[in-house]
Amino acid sequence: MLQTLAAALQATELSQTLRASIWLYPLVNTGHVVGIALLFGAIVPLDLRLLGCWNGVPLDALARTLIPTAIAGLVLAVATGALLFATQPLDYVGEPLFGIKMALLGAALINALMLRLSPQWGEPRPLSPPAWRIAGIVSVLLWLGVITAGRLIGYR
Ligand code: HEM
Repeated sequence: MLQTLAAALQATELSQTLRASIWLYPLVNTGHVVGIALLFGAIVPLDLRLLGCWNGVPLDALARTLIPTAIAGLVLAVATGALLFATQPLDYVGEPLFGIKMALLGAALINALMLRLSPQWGEPRPLSPPAWRIAGIVSVLLWLGVITAGRLIGYR
């Protein structure tokens, strides 16, 4: 089923254009890296704040600028990631590391959503509750896992 869908995607004009052009793939890849930089660069200071760094800075003030930056990075990384995938979908559906990367990405997004939707999120508090500290550590580890898996795919 997945193979059939991947074969159909690989036969599209978009996929053929991405493979044929010498500058399109590197350009899309650059967009992917910029998206990752924005996402991870915004997530890490937030996670460190949850872990106890910069307790004098209100979490709400940090979140107001860093969450939109992280979302913009995520949207760019997902859009360009879909194009990178569309270049060689038959290779990627058969690659376990790609599946691992998508599973880690899903887990990182669920962790971030659960944290943001927790009822105490809006309350001003200098120290994070223990559950938020755990979520901060888990977040850094999961995003590092996504980046490592993404990078490793290129060496397979
Ligand atoms: C649905 C979302 C995404 C898709 C479909 C996707 C897909 C891909 C694909 C197909 C590649 C090329 C692998 C190769 O052959 O070398 C790639 C590279 C990569 N991805 Fe993603 N990706 C997504 C989101 C992300 C996110 C959110 C991150 C990190 C936070 C990420 C990190 C990376 C890294 C580090 C590379 C290697 C870049 C390089 O070596 O130039 N990806 N991705």
